[in-house]
Formats: sequence, structure tokens, C-alpha cells
Amino acid sequence: MTISRRTFLIVGAVTAASVALPPFICAQASAANAARPIKAKVSIEVNGQQHALDLDTRTTLLDALREQLHLTGTKKGCDHGQCGACTVIADGRRINSCLTLAVMHEGSKITTIEGLGTPQQLHPMQAAFIKHDGYQCGYCTPGQICSAVAVLGEIRDGIPSHASPDLTEPPKLIAGEIQERMSGNICRCGAYSNIIEAISEVAEASA
Ligand code: FES
Ligand code: FES
Repeated sequence: MTISRRTFLIVGAVTAASVALPPFICAQASAANAARPIKAKVSIEVNGQQHALDLDTRTTLLDALREQLHLTGTKKGCDHGQCGACTVIADGRRINSCLTLAVMHEGSKITTIEGLGTPQQLHPMQAAFIKHDGYQCGYCTPGQICSAVAVLGEIRDGIPSHASPDLTEPPKLIAGEIQERMSGNICRCGAYSNIIEAISEVAEASA
């Protein structure tokens, strides 16, 4: 049987339309789903205060802190886990709050920069950053300070890093260790040397 060019084009168009239809319907369905968020109740302790939140399950911890609890000290830099501006302390360990969903922290204890110290009574790390001029624009600073506080805890707990020379010995509170551990906190102003001085001073004082 021979097929004319016209018949071939008609058959091709009908086939293409029938193949294209399901994705279109899928797109409409997923748009409808996106418009109807799934909510969940989450109980989190933030800076010593218990909060019961009713959240879209897709909400990151960073957005919950900033948008729901209005704790805007924690900054959104890249929102992709690459800059460290959003660092907070969760159950004693530092995390990038942009990379974790709030619903994953049911029952967690979160500390943000607002919970470390107060303007009247600064945390020693906050005071050291001021003393050593460890910032310029200050955008990375809350994340740097939360990370630095957790770093000293990691070293005291004997957790080795990529820079630890001997895995059988407890890591030392030296600049190389601190630099390696703080490498996930980017400072576009380049205040790194002053930041290391500030952290080193707190490390020595608490040794
Ligand atoms: Fe989270 Fe950059 S905002 S790592
Ligand atoms: Fe400006 Fe670090 S002080 S980015």
C-alpha cells in the first residue's frame, strides 16, 4: 500500500497530538497539586522557646525561621547549601538551614544568632568578632558565628576534620583546623583573617 504525502502528514499530526496530550494533562494536574499545599504541624524549640507551627511541608527550616518566626538574623545567601549564610545550630550540630525541611526537625532544639547572646550580654564569639573586626557588610556574620561556636564544640568533642594530621589523636585548636572547618562559610568581603583571629582567641580562652 502506498501512502500519499498528505495522508502521512495527517497521520503524523494526529499521532503527535495524542502523544502530547498526557504530559499536558500531567502539567495541569501537577500545577493544581502545587496550588494545594500539604500542611503539617511541627513542634520546634528555637532559642529556648517552644513553637507549634502549621507549615507547608516543603518549607525549609530557613524559611520557617525567617518568614514564620521572624528571626531574620539567619540570612539567605545562595539558598543552595553553598555559602553558609544560613547556618544554625540544630541539637548541637551546625547545619545549613536552607538545605533541610522544617518538618524534619520535629522536636529539635535550634539555636540561631538571636539565641546566642543579647546586645547587653554578647556571646564570647560575638564579642570576639567585634573586637577583631571580623566582618564588613555583616551579611555572612550570623552564619559565621553560629558555625564558629559549633566548630569549637566539634574540636572539643574530638571529631576529626579533613585537615587533622592524626586521626588517633584529638584534633587541636589550631588555625589550620579552624580554617578547614570554617571553609563552608563564605565571606564575600574577605574578612577571613580577622574571623580566624576572633575564633582563635575564643578557642584559646576556652582551652
Ligand atoms: Fe544556605 Fe547559602 S543560604 S548555604
Ligand atoms: Fe560581608 Fe562577610 S562580612 S560577606
